[in-house]
Amino acid sequence: MGYKVPFVDPRTHYRNYQSEIDAAIFDCLSKGDLIYRQQLRNFEERLAAFVGVKYAVGLSSGYHALLFALMGASIGPGDEVITVAHTFVATVSAIIHCGAKPVLVDVASDFNIDPDLIEEAVTERTRALMVVHLNGRICDMARVTEIASKHNLVVIEDAAQSLGATFDGRRAGSFGAAGCFSFYPFKLLGGFGDGGALTTNDAGIARMASLLRFNGEDRDTGEYHHHGQTALLDNVQAAVLDAKLRHLPAWIEHRRTIAQRYRKRLACVGDLMLPHFSEEKQFDSFQNYVIRTRSRDALRAHLRDNGVETLVHWPKPMWEHRGLGLTNPGLPETESICREVISLPMSAETTFEQVDYTTEQVREFFSTLGPDRR
Ligand SMILES: Cc1ncc(COP(=O)(O)O)c(C=O)c1O
Repeated sequence: MGYKVPFVDPRTHYRNYQSEIDAAIFDCLSKGDLIYRQQLRNFEERLAAFVGVKYAVGLSSGYHALLFALMGASIGPGDEVITVAHTFVATVSAIIHCGAKPVLVDVASDFNIDPDLIEEAVTERTRALMVVHLNGRICDMARVTEIASKHNLVVIEDAAQSLGATFDGRRAGSFGAAGCFSFYPFKLLGGFGDGGALTTNDAGIARMASLLRFNGEDRDTGEYHHHGQTALLDNVQAAVLDAKLRHLPAWIEHRRTIAQRYRKRLACVGDLMLPHFSEEKQFDSFQNYVIRTRSRDALRAHLRDNGVETLVHWPKPMWEHRGLGLTNPGLPETESICREVISLPMSAETTFEQVDYTTEQVREFFSTLGPDRR
Protein backbone atom coordinates (compact mmCIF):
# COMPACT_ATOMS: atom_id res chain seq x y z
CA MET A 1 0.00 0.00 0.00
CA GLY A 2 1.32 3.44 -0.92
CA TYR A 3 0.94 5.77 2.07
CA LYS A 4 0.19 9.47 1.77
CA VAL A 5 2.57 9.89 4.73
CA PRO A 6 5.16 7.10 4.82
CA PHE A 7 6.91 6.30 8.07
CA VAL A 8 10.25 6.90 6.38
CA ASP A 9 11.11 7.70 2.77
CA PRO A 10 14.34 6.07 1.55
CA ARG A 11 13.77 7.00 -2.09
CA THR A 12 13.49 10.72 -1.41
CA HIS A 13 16.45 10.44 0.93
CA TYR A 14 18.58 8.95 -1.85
CA ARG A 15 17.44 11.55 -4.39
CA ASN A 16 18.27 14.39 -2.01
CA TYR A 17 21.87 13.22 -1.55
CA GLN A 18 22.35 11.32 -4.79
CA SER A 19 25.45 13.11 -6.06
CA GLU A 20 27.39 12.63 -2.81
CA ILE A 21 26.26 9.03 -2.37
CA ASP A 22 26.98 8.09 -5.97
CA ALA A 23 30.43 9.72 -5.76
CA ALA A 24 31.25 7.74 -2.60
CA ILE A 25 30.19 4.45 -4.17
CA PHE A 26 31.96 5.24 -7.46
CA ASP A 27 35.16 6.02 -5.59
CA CYS A 28 35.15 2.57 -3.96
CA LEU A 29 34.09 0.59 -7.01
CA SER A 30 36.35 2.33 -9.48
CA LYS A 31 39.38 1.75 -7.26
CA GLY A 32 38.35 -1.77 -6.30
CA ASP A 33 38.27 -0.72 -2.65
CA LEU A 34 35.84 -3.20 -1.18
CA ILE A 35 37.25 -4.58 2.06
CA TYR A 36 39.01 -2.73 4.89
CA ARG A 37 40.34 0.22 2.92
CA GLN A 38 40.94 3.89 3.53
CA GLN A 39 37.24 4.80 3.24
CA LEU A 40 36.48 2.62 6.28
CA ARG A 41 39.34 4.13 8.26
CA ASN A 42 38.20 7.64 7.37
CA PHE A 43 34.70 6.89 8.55
CA GLU A 44 35.92 5.31 11.78
CA GLU A 45 38.08 8.33 12.49
CA ARG A 46 35.27 10.81 11.87
CA LEU A 47 32.74 8.76 13.81
CA ALA A 48 35.07 8.55 16.82
CA ALA A 49 35.56 12.33 16.68
CA PHE A 50 31.82 12.91 16.38
CA VAL A 51 31.03 10.70 19.39
CA GLY A 52 33.98 12.09 21.33
CA VAL A 53 36.05 8.94 21.89
CA LYS A 54 39.43 7.64 20.78
CA TYR A 55 38.32 4.62 18.75
CA ALA A 56 35.48 3.56 16.49
CA VAL A 57 35.42 0.09 14.97
CA GLY A 58 33.16 -0.50 11.95
CA LEU A 59 31.12 -3.71 12.17
CA SER A 60 28.45 -5.44 10.17
CA SER A 61 25.64 -4.59 12.62
CA GLY A 62 24.69 -3.02 15.90
CA TYR A 63 24.20 -6.52 17.26
CA HIS A 64 27.87 -7.29 16.64
CA ALA A 65 28.87 -4.09 18.43
CA LEU A 66 26.89 -5.23 21.49
CA LEU A 67 28.33 -8.73 21.37
CA PHE A 68 31.92 -7.59 20.87
CA ALA A 69 31.60 -4.95 23.61
CA LEU A 70 30.58 -7.67 26.05
CA MET A 71 33.32 -10.02 24.87
CA GLY A 72 35.86 -7.19 24.93
CA ALA A 73 34.92 -6.52 28.56
CA SER A 74 35.40 -10.26 29.29
CA ILE A 75 31.75 -10.82 30.17
CA GLY A 76 30.81 -14.48 29.82
CA PRO A 77 29.34 -17.59 31.42
CA GLY A 78 28.37 -17.15 35.06
CA ASP A 79 28.02 -13.36 34.73
CA GLU A 80 24.82 -11.36 34.95
CA VAL A 81 24.15 -8.28 32.85
CA ILE A 82 21.42 -5.85 33.84
CA THR A 83 19.41 -4.41 30.97
CA VAL A 84 15.84 -3.62 29.89
CA ALA A 85 13.19 -5.67 28.10
CA HIS A 86 11.81 -2.63 26.29
CA THR A 87 14.41 -2.74 23.52
CA PHE A 88 15.11 -4.46 20.24
CA VAL A 89 15.75 -8.13 20.89
CA ALA A 90 19.40 -7.84 19.77
CA THR A 91 20.31 -6.19 23.09
CA VAL A 92 19.29 -9.29 25.01
CA SER A 93 20.49 -11.76 22.36
CA ALA A 94 24.02 -10.32 22.57
CA ILE A 95 24.07 -10.98 26.32
CA ILE A 96 22.85 -14.54 25.83
CA HIS A 97 25.28 -15.18 22.96
CA CYS A 98 28.29 -14.17 25.06
CA GLY A 99 27.19 -16.77 27.61
CA ALA A 100 25.96 -14.37 30.29
CA LYS A 101 22.50 -14.05 31.85
CA PRO A 102 20.32 -11.02 31.10
CA VAL A 103 18.60 -9.55 34.15
CA LEU A 104 15.69 -7.46 32.94
CA VAL A 105 14.53 -4.37 34.81
CA ASP A 106 11.71 -1.95 34.10
CA VAL A 107 11.87 1.36 32.28
CA ALA A 108 10.63 4.78 33.37
CA SER A 109 8.10 6.91 31.52
CA ASP A 110 10.81 8.18 29.15
CA PHE A 111 11.21 4.57 27.91
CA ASN A 112 14.75 4.25 29.31
CA ILE A 113 15.99 2.18 32.23
CA ASP A 114 14.56 3.37 35.55
CA PRO A 115 17.65 4.24 37.62
CA ASP A 116 15.65 3.67 40.82
CA LEU A 117 15.29 -0.01 39.96
CA ILE A 118 18.88 -0.85 39.04
CA GLU A 119 20.37 -1.47 42.46
CA GLU A 120 17.78 -4.00 43.56
CA ALA A 121 18.72 -6.11 40.52
CA VAL A 122 22.41 -6.21 41.42
CA THR A 123 23.70 -9.55 42.76
CA GLU A 124 27.19 -10.83 43.42
CA ARG A 125 27.24 -12.14 39.84
CA THR A 126 26.38 -8.82 38.20
CA ARG A 127 29.26 -7.68 36.00
CA ALA A 128 27.75 -5.19 33.60
CA LEU A 129 24.99 -2.70 33.05
CA MET A 130 23.84 -2.49 29.45
CA VAL A 131 21.78 0.68 29.17
CA VAL A 132 19.70 1.36 26.08
CA HIS A 133 19.27 4.95 24.91
CA LEU A 134 15.94 4.47 23.21
CA ASN A 135 14.27 6.61 20.55
CA GLY A 136 17.09 9.18 20.47
CA ARG A 137 17.06 9.90 24.19
CA ILE A 138 20.09 9.18 26.30
CA CYS A 139 19.66 7.63 29.78
CA ASP A 140 20.40 9.57 32.95
CA MET A 141 24.12 8.84 32.70
CA ALA A 142 24.95 10.63 35.95
CA ARG A 143 22.83 8.14 37.91
CA VAL A 144 23.92 5.20 35.75
CA THR A 145 27.64 5.85 36.14
CA GLU A 146 27.28 6.53 39.85
CA ILE A 147 25.47 3.21 40.43
CA ALA A 148 27.92 1.36 38.17
CA SER A 149 30.97 2.65 39.99
CA LYS A 150 29.40 1.91 43.39
CA HIS A 151 28.93 -1.75 42.38
CA ASN A 152 31.97 -2.00 40.14
CA LEU A 153 29.97 -2.70 36.99
CA VAL A 154 31.05 -2.25 33.40
CA VAL A 155 28.71 0.14 31.53
CA ILE A 156 27.92 -0.69 27.93
CA GLU A 157 25.72 1.72 26.01
CA ASP A 158 23.30 0.41 23.44
CA ALA A 159 23.21 3.66 21.49
CA ALA A 160 21.78 2.07 18.32
CA GLN A 161 18.96 4.63 18.37
CA SER A 162 20.79 7.63 19.76
CA LEU A 163 23.72 8.79 17.69
CA GLY A 164 24.09 12.52 18.35
CA ALA A 165 22.00 12.60 21.55
CA THR A 166 23.78 14.15 24.52
CA PHE A 167 23.73 14.17 28.31
CA ASP A 168 25.43 17.12 30.00
CA GLY A 169 26.97 17.97 26.64
CA ARG A 170 28.54 14.54 26.09
CA ARG A 171 27.40 12.36 23.26
CA ALA A 172 25.84 8.91 23.51
CA GLY A 173 28.49 6.23 23.16
CA SER A 174 31.16 8.19 25.04
CA PHE A 175 30.24 7.34 28.65
CA GLY A 176 30.63 3.61 29.06
CA ALA A 177 33.38 1.09 28.39
CA ALA A 178 31.82 0.90 24.92
CA GLY A 179 29.06 2.48 22.85
CA CYS A 180 27.20 0.42 20.26
CA PHE A 181 25.65 1.90 17.14
CA SER A 182 23.52 0.58 14.31
CA PHE A 183 23.47 1.90 10.76
CA TYR A 184 20.39 -0.05 9.73
CA PRO A 185 18.86 2.00 6.88
CA PHE A 186 16.24 3.79 9.00
CA LYS A 187 18.49 4.79 11.87
CA LEU A 188 19.58 8.41 12.43
CA LEU A 189 22.60 7.60 10.28
CA GLY A 190 21.54 4.80 7.95
CA GLY A 191 23.40 2.81 5.34
CA PHE A 192 21.99 0.72 2.50
CA GLY A 193 21.82 -2.45 4.52
CA ASP A 194 23.04 -3.66 7.88
CA GLY A 195 25.99 -1.96 9.54
CA GLY A 196 27.19 -0.91 12.95
CA ALA A 197 30.10 0.37 15.01
CA LEU A 198 31.58 0.12 18.46
CA THR A 199 33.01 3.25 20.07
CA THR A 200 35.38 3.25 23.02
CA ASN A 201 38.28 4.93 24.79
CA ASP A 202 39.61 1.52 25.81
CA ALA A 203 42.40 0.33 23.51
CA GLY A 204 41.88 -3.29 24.65
CA ILE A 205 38.18 -3.31 23.73
CA ALA A 206 38.90 -1.59 20.40
CA ARG A 207 41.53 -4.20 19.57
CA MET A 208 39.27 -7.07 20.59
CA ALA A 209 36.46 -5.79 18.35
CA SER A 210 38.95 -5.31 15.49
CA LEU A 211 40.10 -8.93 15.83
CA LEU A 212 36.67 -10.46 16.34
CA ARG A 213 35.30 -8.87 13.16
CA PHE A 214 38.02 -10.65 11.15
CA ASN A 215 37.35 -14.11 12.61
CA GLY A 216 39.93 -13.39 15.28
CA GLU A 217 42.74 -12.47 12.90
CA ASP A 218 45.23 -9.67 13.42
CA ARG A 219 45.38 -8.36 9.84
CA ASP A 220 48.88 -6.99 10.33
CA THR A 221 50.47 -10.26 11.47
CA GLY A 222 48.09 -12.91 10.15
CA GLU A 223 47.87 -14.43 13.64
CA TYR A 224 44.47 -15.72 14.84
CA HIS A 225 43.91 -14.74 18.47
CA HIS A 226 40.31 -15.82 18.99
CA HIS A 227 37.43 -17.65 17.37
CA GLY A 228 35.76 -14.57 15.97
CA GLN A 229 33.11 -13.85 13.40
CA THR A 230 32.76 -12.43 9.90
CA ALA A 231 31.55 -9.01 10.95
CA LEU A 232 33.36 -6.19 9.17
CA LEU A 233 31.57 -3.02 8.03
CA ASP A 234 31.73 -3.08 4.23
CA ASN A 235 33.94 -0.46 2.69
CA VAL A 236 31.20 0.80 0.35
CA GLN A 237 28.81 1.20 3.30
CA ALA A 238 31.50 3.06 5.24
CA ALA A 239 32.11 5.43 2.32
CA VAL A 240 28.40 6.24 2.09
CA LEU A 241 28.07 6.63 5.86
CA ASP A 242 31.07 8.93 5.88
CA ALA A 243 29.44 11.13 3.24
CA LYS A 244 26.20 11.19 5.22
CA LEU A 245 27.77 11.81 8.63
CA ARG A 246 28.44 15.47 7.82
CA HIS A 247 24.69 15.99 7.36
CA LEU A 248 23.74 14.34 10.63
CA PRO A 249 23.64 17.47 12.82
CA ALA A 250 21.25 19.15 10.35
CA TRP A 251 19.09 16.02 10.21
CA ILE A 252 18.89 15.93 13.99
CA GLU A 253 17.86 19.59 14.05
CA HIS A 254 15.15 18.80 11.52
CA ARG A 255 13.91 15.88 13.66
CA ARG A 256 13.78 18.16 16.70
CA THR A 257 11.77 20.73 14.75
CA ILE A 258 9.37 18.02 13.61
CA ALA A 259 9.05 16.86 17.24
CA GLN A 260 8.22 20.40 18.36
CA ARG A 261 5.56 20.64 15.67
CA TYR A 262 4.00 17.35 16.75
CA ARG A 263 4.06 18.63 20.30
CA LYS A 264 2.36 21.90 19.46
CA ARG A 265 -0.34 20.20 17.46
CA LEU A 266 -0.96 17.24 19.76
CA ALA A 267 -0.86 18.95 23.16
CA CYS A 268 -3.96 18.15 25.22
CA VAL A 269 -5.46 15.81 22.62
CA GLY A 270 -7.32 12.84 24.15
CA ASP A 271 -5.29 10.84 26.63
CA LEU A 272 -2.13 11.23 24.54
CA MET A 273 1.21 11.26 26.32
CA LEU A 274 3.90 12.97 24.24
CA PRO A 275 7.64 12.27 24.36
CA HIS A 276 8.72 15.67 25.57
CA PHE A 277 10.69 14.84 28.64
CA SER A 278 12.95 17.11 30.60
CA GLU A 279 15.75 18.47 28.46
CA GLU A 280 17.58 20.03 31.35
CA LYS A 281 20.51 17.64 30.81
CA GLN A 282 19.47 15.66 27.76
CA PHE A 283 19.48 16.75 24.13
CA ASP A 284 17.24 14.28 22.28
CA SER A 285 17.95 13.28 18.68
CA PHE A 286 14.44 11.84 18.08
CA GLN A 287 15.19 8.60 16.29
CA ASN A 288 11.49 7.93 16.85
CA TYR A 289 8.54 10.05 17.89
CA VAL A 290 6.62 7.74 20.20
CA ILE A 291 3.27 8.71 21.67
CA ARG A 292 1.12 6.74 24.11
CA THR A 293 -2.63 6.22 24.29
CA ARG A 294 -4.98 3.59 25.70
CA SER A 295 -6.67 3.60 22.25
CA ARG A 296 -3.47 2.69 20.41
CA ASP A 297 -4.82 -0.07 18.14
CA ALA A 298 -7.87 1.93 17.05
CA LEU A 299 -5.75 5.04 16.46
CA ARG A 300 -3.30 3.03 14.40
CA ALA A 301 -6.13 1.59 12.27
CA HIS A 302 -7.57 5.08 11.74
CA LEU A 303 -4.20 6.45 10.64
CA ARG A 304 -3.60 3.51 8.32
CA ASP A 305 -7.06 3.91 6.73
CA ASN A 306 -6.25 7.57 6.14
CA GLY A 307 -2.84 7.00 4.59
CA VAL A 308 -0.49 7.52 7.54
CA GLU A 309 2.06 4.78 8.13
CA THR A 310 2.99 4.11 11.75
CA LEU A 311 5.00 1.48 13.60
CA VAL A 312 4.73 -0.08 17.03
CA HIS A 313 7.96 -0.67 18.91
CA TRP A 314 7.09 -3.30 20.30
CA PRO A 315 3.61 -4.82 20.50
CA LYS A 316 4.33 -7.55 23.04
CA PRO A 317 6.83 -7.91 25.85
CA MET A 318 9.97 -9.75 24.84
CA TRP A 319 9.40 -12.57 27.31
CA GLU A 320 6.09 -13.45 25.64
CA HIS A 321 8.04 -14.63 22.56
CA ARG A 322 8.37 -18.15 23.87
CA GLY A 323 11.21 -19.08 21.55
CA LEU A 324 13.45 -16.60 23.37
CA GLY A 325 13.29 -18.69 26.53
CA LEU A 326 12.99 -15.72 28.90
CA THR A 327 11.02 -15.88 32.12
CA ASN A 328 8.48 -13.16 32.85
CA PRO A 329 10.33 -10.64 35.02
CA GLY A 330 7.09 -8.81 35.91
CA LEU A 331 7.73 -5.33 34.54
CA PRO A 332 4.49 -3.31 34.66
CA GLU A 333 5.71 -0.21 32.79
CA THR A 334 7.18 -2.33 29.99
CA GLU A 335 3.87 -4.19 29.69
CA SER A 336 1.73 -1.07 29.49
CA ILE A 337 4.13 0.54 27.03
CA CYS A 338 3.70 -2.46 24.73
CA ARG A 339 -0.08 -1.93 24.80
CA GLU A 340 0.02 1.85 24.39
CA VAL A 341 2.86 3.05 22.17
CA ILE A 342 2.71 4.08 18.54
CA SER A 343 5.53 5.71 16.55
CA LEU A 344 4.53 8.52 14.18
CA PRO A 345 6.34 9.31 10.90
CA MET A 346 9.77 10.76 11.67
CA SER A 347 12.79 11.06 9.42
CA ALA A 348 15.06 13.62 7.82
CA GLU A 349 12.57 13.70 4.93
CA THR A 350 9.38 14.15 6.96
CA THR A 351 7.80 17.45 5.93
CA PHE A 352 5.78 19.98 7.91
CA GLU A 353 2.81 19.22 5.65
CA GLN A 354 3.08 15.53 6.53
CA VAL A 355 3.18 16.35 10.23
CA ASP A 356 0.17 18.62 9.87
CA TYR A 357 -1.82 15.98 8.01
CA THR A 358 -0.85 13.31 10.54
CA THR A 359 -1.78 15.45 13.52
CA GLU A 360 -5.11 16.41 11.88
CA GLN A 361 -5.87 12.72 11.54
CA VAL A 362 -4.92 12.06 15.16
CA ARG A 363 -7.16 14.89 16.33
CA GLU A 364 -10.00 13.67 14.15
CA PHE A 365 -9.67 10.20 15.66
CA PHE A 366 -9.92 11.51 19.22
CA SER A 367 -12.84 13.80 18.38
CA THR A 368 -14.91 10.70 17.56
CA LEU A 369 -14.13 8.90 20.86
CA GLY A 370 -16.37 8.86 23.89
CA PRO A 371 -15.61 11.42 26.66
CA ASP A 372 -13.86 8.87 28.91
CA ARG A 373 -11.20 8.36 26.23
CA ARG A 374 -10.73 11.97 25.23
C1 LIG B 1 17.90 -0.45 20.61
C2 LIG B 1 18.58 -1.30 19.56
N1 LIG B 1 19.56 -2.13 19.92
C3 LIG B 1 20.21 -2.88 19.03
C4 LIG B 1 19.90 -2.84 17.69
C5 LIG B 1 20.61 -3.77 16.77
O1 LIG B 1 21.16 -3.14 15.67
P1 LIG B 1 21.30 -3.94 14.29
O2 LIG B 1 19.92 -4.10 13.72
O3 LIG B 1 22.18 -3.09 13.46
O4 LIG B 1 21.92 -5.26 14.61
C6 LIG B 1 18.88 -1.99 17.25
C7 LIG B 1 18.53 -1.86 15.83
O5 LIG B 1 17.56 -2.23 15.33
C8 LIG B 1 18.19 -1.21 18.22
O6 LIG B 1 17.19 -0.39 17.85
